[in-house]
Amino acid sequence: MTENIVWHDHKVSREARNQLCGHKSCVLWYTGLSGSGKSTIANAVDELLHKRSVHTYVLDGDNIRHGLNGDLAFSDKDRVENIRRVGEVAKLFVDSGLIVTTAFISPFRADRKLARKLFEQGEFVEVFIDTPLEVCEQRDPKGLYKKARAGKIPHFTGIDSEYEAPDGAELIVETDGRSVIDCAHQVVAYLAENGYLD
Ligand code: PPS
Repeated sequence: MTENIVWHDHKVSREARNQLCGHKSCVLWYTGLSGSGKSTIANAVDELLHKRSVHTYVLDGDNIRHGLNGDLAFSDKDRVENIRRVGEVAKLFVDSGLIVTTAFISPFRADRKLARKLFEQGEFVEVFIDTPLEVCEQRDPKGLYKKARAGKIPHFTGIDSEYEAPDGAELIVETDGRSVIDCAHQVVAYLAENGYLD
């Protein structure tokens, strides 16, 4: 597919962009069940970082599926393509100098590994929003678990579609019994302690 297509190097380097921003760029790759708190925590982290003048952007599953990935549903094949595209878009954002957040269920380990491979060492920070299925189902913020249990949503993650928990996430955020802001501070502390905000 890339035959006769030649890569262009740009004059403004990634390093120059990072210098202008005053911090490193990376992707915070959130993964977790529906209702686990990915978007909520990602937004709280984004707000904290923004207040510290960090250049950020959030790519959220529900939103991206309205536009760029509006042609994809929830079969295994479509989820694989969803995550492939998100990985490529996140790579562009990282190249532009931002700390980009992706908040997608991204249920399959192999796809998250493929996304990770697109990035340099240290640029891919996998954040497992570790909320047990029972808790997600109890929260059921959009009423989707109820519908899925009633057989009204096929291939629902955790019900009749698999979720493979990470085995090597940089960060595990347990949410049950904790406040959103406490979880958000955990993520920001990780970034600060690991030199991303310098
Ligand atoms: S995936 O698995 O990464 O491709 O999914 P993602 O792009 O993150 O989209 C998840 C949101 O879509 C809604 N939704 C479903 N989720 C899981 N399974 C099925 N079948 C489904 N149908 C619709 C749901 O609102 C998810 O949002 P979150 O924020 O995760 O609850």
